Order: sequence, then C-alpha cells, then structure tokens
Amino acid sequence: MDKLIIKGGYTISGSVNVHGAKNSALPIIVSSLLSEKTLKLSNVPNVVDVLNLIKLLKNYGVKIEHKKNKLKINSSKINNLSADYDVVRKMRASILILGPLLSRFGEARISLPGGCAIGTRPIDIHLTGLSKLGASFEIQNGFIVGNVKSQLVGNSIKLPFPSVGATENILMASVLAKGETKISNAAREPEIEDLSNCLIKMGAKIEGYGTKTILVQGVTNLKKAEHHIISDRIVAGTYIIAALMLNSALEIKYVNTIYLKSLINVLKKMGAKLKETKNSIRVFKGAKLKSTSISTSPYPGFPTDLQAQLMSLMCLSDGKSKIKETIFENRFMHVPELNRLGANITVEKDVATIIGNQTFKGAQVMASDLRASISLVLAAMNANGQTTLNRVYHLDRGYENIEKTLGSLGAKIKRKKN
Ligand code: UD1
Repeated sequence: MDKLIIKGGYTISGSVNVHGAKNSALPIIVSSLLSEKTLKLSNVPNVVDVLNLIKLLKNYGVKIEHKKNKLKINSSKINNLSADYDVVRKMRASILILGPLLSRFGEARISLPGGCAIGTRPIDIHLTGLSKLGASFEIQNGFIVGNVKSQLVGNSIKLPFPSVGATENILMASVLAKGETKISNAAREPEIEDLSNCLIKMGAKIEGYGTKTILVQGVTNLKKAEHHIISDRIVAGTYIIAALMLNSALEIKYVNTIYLKSLINVLKKMGAKLKETKNSIRVFKGAKLKSTSISTSPYPGFPTDLQAQLMSLMCLSDGKSKIKETIFENRFMHVPELNRLGANITVEKDVATIIGNQTFKGAQVMASDLRASISLVLAAMNANGQTTLNRVYHLDRGYENIEKTLGSLGAKIKRKKN
C-alpha cells in the first residue's frame, strides 16, 4: 500500500484548478446503463472510485473509451447483470446500478455494499423506494437480487431522510418507469442537479430537481448526449482550508462558489479573508482565525464531507470549537490520528470539541476513510517535522494526483510506492 511522506512547514501559493466532482461523475456514469445510445462525458476526475466503476461497467459488457478526463460510454449491449463483492466492497456507490438495471432490464444482482468505514450505512431507503416502483428484492448469499415483473411503474415516494444515493437511485429508475414518479423529501445536493441535467439531455423528463420534490414523467427510451461534469465542491473546499491553515494566499479556479456557500459563511465567521466570483475564490493571508461551532446537515447545510478538513483548521484557530456530525455515525475516525499529530480533540457521542491554538508535530498516521485522510494531509503540511500517512488508497478514491497538485503549489509531499 502506498504511503505519503509529508514535510511540514512549507507555505503554498499561486492558483489551482479544481477537478470534476467524483460524486457527480459516479451516478452520471451509471446513468448510461439506462440508454442504448452513447453518452459522452467531460471533466471526469481520474480518481480510483471512477476507475473502479469503469471496471465494473466493462465487466457488464459496457463499451467505454477513456481518454484523460473524457469518457465515451455505450451500454447498448449488456451481457451480465451481477456486481461482485470485489468491486462493490471498495465503493458503496456501486449500489446505484440497481435502479438503472431494474428499470431497463427488469433484473439486477449486486453484492451488499462496502465503501468508507463510516457507520453502518444501510441501503433500506434505496430498496424501499425501488420497491414502491414495483421491484422486489431478496438477499441470496450476500447478494441483493432484484426483480421486476413486467415494468417499473411510477409512484409517490416520500424518503424518510434525504439520502443522496437513494434519491439518485430512485430518480434513475423512474426515468424509464411507466407514468409519473414523485420523490418527496429528496436530497438537494448539487450532484443531484448535475445528474438531472445529464438525464434531461438524454431525453428524461424531470422537474423540481434541486428542490425537495422531484417529479419524473417516464419515457420509453433515451437518446445520445454529451455532458460536462460540475467541479468538485469538496476538493475546492479542501484547497481553501489548506491555504488558511498555511496562512497562504491562493486562488482556487473552476469552482462553483454558489455550491460552497455554507463553508464560505463559516470560514468568514471565523475571520477568513476570502473573495469570491462566480467561478473562483481567492484566499488572502494574514487572517486571525477564531473558533466556531457547526453542525453537519444535508445540502444546503454544512457538508459532512468537509467536516474533517474544517476540524484540522479549528485545531489552529483561537478558542474552543465544536462540530456536531448529524449525517453519519462514526465519522470521527480522524480524531485519534489528528491527536497523534498534536491536536487536542475529544469526542462525546456525535459532538467533537476542538481546543484551538495547537501546534501540529509530524508523526506516523493512518488514513481511515477518504475525507479523514485529507484532514491528516492538511495537518501534516502544517506540522513541525515529517509525517508518514499510511493507507493512501483512501485518498486516491476522491482526489486526483493530490501530491502533484499540492506539490505544484509549494507543499513537500512524496509518494512511496509499496
Ligand atoms: C453521498 C456521498 C458522500 C456524502 C454523503 C452525504 C456519493 C458517492 N457519496 O453518500 O460522499 O458523504 O452523500 O452527503 O455521492 N442512509 C440510510 N439508509 C439508506 C441510505 C442512507 O439509513 O438507504 C443513511 C446513511 O447511513 C447515512 C445517511 O443516510 O447516515 C446519509 O447517507 P446518504 O445521503 O445516502 O449518503 P451516500 O449517498 O451514501
């Protein structure tokens, strides 16, 4: 397993372009399974989750041409409807294939999912929603086996929680279902909007995406389409926090600032000096940051995927901060590792208390999940001395060439291949 060796104490400067959003690319690539016609995508991030998904779809017989950040996908011929444990355990988003396969072929078989080790992460909302459209499920030898008698039929589905994945799964399934589907209490994340925009280009009839109620009128088939994936708001947020932690001036480009409002508001409240345009953010140095308290919540609230990074920043801010994690249980696995680097953080149930004004010191640390890993990189870049980050594969799931990108800005990060 690869390691990162990070030498702390170097500032960063210049400008950085944000790559495409992993969490948009995954459902959008999967949505190609709904159509017999070619889907061309650009701004696809070269991250391991995307590469694994490509592998999974190729295994189904899907034809995929992959050049740099472009994909040309044709799912006209599918010869296998089963997703095995090996791929699914690495990436929870594999569950998204259920909706499109059931909708187009009336059957699907997928190993029970894995992914980040953050909480139990059940899939009941996905299965209940798809059942309401007429699918039936049983568990056979660790596989979820889904079947549809004739065709999925639109229905009114109220989600008990605005799950991002369940909203995407049900939305994709309903595109080819007969009649109207209404998804209430739907997730409103920008990635749902991006998926909807792509599906509409493919010929789907969708209204209300980006709001709590999505209405879909089923169609019988889809057409060829081209789509540019939105930029990754979590990666953009990570760079902003990196610059603040290193007291560095940095320009972040190719970012939809509107999707980062909650982070920008929190950082400004802490004292950060930021200047935004529609597609870029400038971070200025010299800000004295003070403590604050936040709660993660579904979009447009503060994203759970930026919680770990903000926590690293809070360790350096003046005073006592608090973070309440309301989306995932067990998403504080970075806390013991940040404490190894010199942080002073305690956790009680779903609340972490962060004592500020700490000095990070280099150490050996272990990445436990994707966002936890990057919070450790941020702390390590700030630390006195050298840090070794083990299990870098978590990081590679969502950040394209992280050591190269941060290295080009002035950070000292080396990858050691094992
Ligand atoms: C997606 C994102 C992930 C982000 C998360 C929350 C992708 C590929 N991943 O994950 O980066 O952290 O949204 O913004 O887009 N839940 C259930 N039953 C279900 C589904 C979810 O109880 O059937 C629970 C989960 O355990 C969790 C909460 O709902 O506690 C949120 O999960 P969800 O919104 O579904 O997250 P993902 O789609 O898995």
